[in-house]
Amino acid sequence: TVRTITALRGHVFQFSGDPFCDNPAEALTDWSDGLVVTENGKITAVGEAADLLKTLPDDAVVHDHSGQFILPGFVDCHVHYPQTEVIASYGAQLIEWLNTYTFPAESKFGDIDYARRAADVYLQQSFANGITSASVYCTIHPESVDALFEQAARYNMRIAAGKVMMDRNAPENLRDTAQTGYDQSKALLEKWHGQGRALYSITPRFAPTSTPEQMEATGALWKEHPEVLLQTHTSENRQELEWVGELYPEHPDYVGVYEHFGLLGKGCILGHGIYLNDREKSLIHETGTSIAHCPTSNTFIGSGLFDVRGSHFTHEPISVGLATDVGGGSSFSMLTTMRTAYEVAQLQGYSLHPVQAYYLATVGSAKALYQENRIGNIKVGMEADFAIIDPLSTPLIRHRMAYANNVIEQLFIQMILGDDRAIAATYIDGKRVYSQAA
Ligand code: GUN
Ligand code: ZN
Repeated sequence: TVRTITALRGHVFQFSGDPFCDNPAEALTDWSDGLVVTENGKITAVGEAADLLKTLPDDAVVHDHSGQFILPGFVDCHVHYPQTEVIASYGAQLIEWLNTYTFPAESKFGDIDYARRAADVYLQQSFANGITSASVYCTIHPESVDALFEQAARYNMRIAAGKVMMDRNAPENLRDTAQTGYDQSKALLEKWHGQGRALYSITPRFAPTSTPEQMEATGALWKEHPEVLLQTHTSENRQELEWVGELYPEHPDYVGVYEHFGLLGKGCILGHGIYLNDREKSLIHETGTSIAHCPTSNTFIGSGLFDVRGSHFTHEPISVGLATDVGGGSSFSMLTTMRTAYEVAQLQGYSLHPVQAYYLATVGSAKALYQENRIGNIKVGMEADFAIIDPLSTPLIRHRMAYANNVIEQLFIQMILGDDRAIAATYIDGKRVYSQAA
């Protein structure tokens, strides 16, 4: 077999600890002239360029990103690829937004060619924003799932995705049944889970669009296949909460519905979780369930403010990842998503530290997916996915950077002022999949 040794030289960043502590800056390690060595898609060395360059064989390829930041690829732990075409849709909150914009868009994805083109647009947007892994909702159509996994396989991307299940409270052409939802999901997970870096995620949309029979079948499927992930939505919007109370009157609360049907646990990612009561928070903590924090969606659709401080600084901490939630979310930029997470925390009297923000977008999301040993950090043995930031991407950023006192401030400036223009290149599986220059 051919050894493919590729190295990246630049300002390398690594998370050496959890920044949700008293001194967040200590959780970050960096090498201003660093080198990351990769071989066949895995990281084999990280450290000072001066030391490591000497160890490389003559035929190694070195990508020179000197003066740029080499970060772990961003992990978007909750996004709807079929909604790319309805990002920036005006004037509606959750339920009306779903009915007016989302469902009509999703109804087109039974056509595999349409789905393939949309999947490609979605992946290119993600790469242009340094996103190298994601947990993705498709539509109820199995074709929408095949299309995405096929396109992602071209890059050997570590992607999680699943067929949305809905058997009520959705248009006729977007409904499956308890039986077909189960059968199709089972066939898809058997086809895709573990193919290359693909992961399957069982995807009941949310409690209001599934009957108790579908929830039951979903729980049974996860029990038969505990190796896959599961994703759904919870407690995003007040009207939604009330509706769940009416549809599931016998359960104590929203998360209690998922608890009852066996949908909580390690590998379950709940989107949003804004209006959780103490019982629900304890359940999420105890079961190892994670939350996808989707700040641009929560402000754009007017849902509310997720409590990122409260979920970490408590005796029962919750695992939290960061997510774009496009098309409810208003940006594919993880930098913009970090900025909005900062603003949402500010509105609650908490200043999210930049190291915490970058951690949520990388290690946090990887942990939410129980993939933190593979993705989300730059450490020996981990997969070779990177986001490269040009720290001087606009005139204003260039001006502001001249006044930064340290690297933490530099990172903060990027997340507040940067967007896709700041992403110089993106690498997946050791290979460049995006370059702004090209
Ligand atoms: N809740 C149920 N479905 C959706 C969706 O597509 N987007 C958002 N933001 N919330 C949801
Ligand atoms: Zn969502």
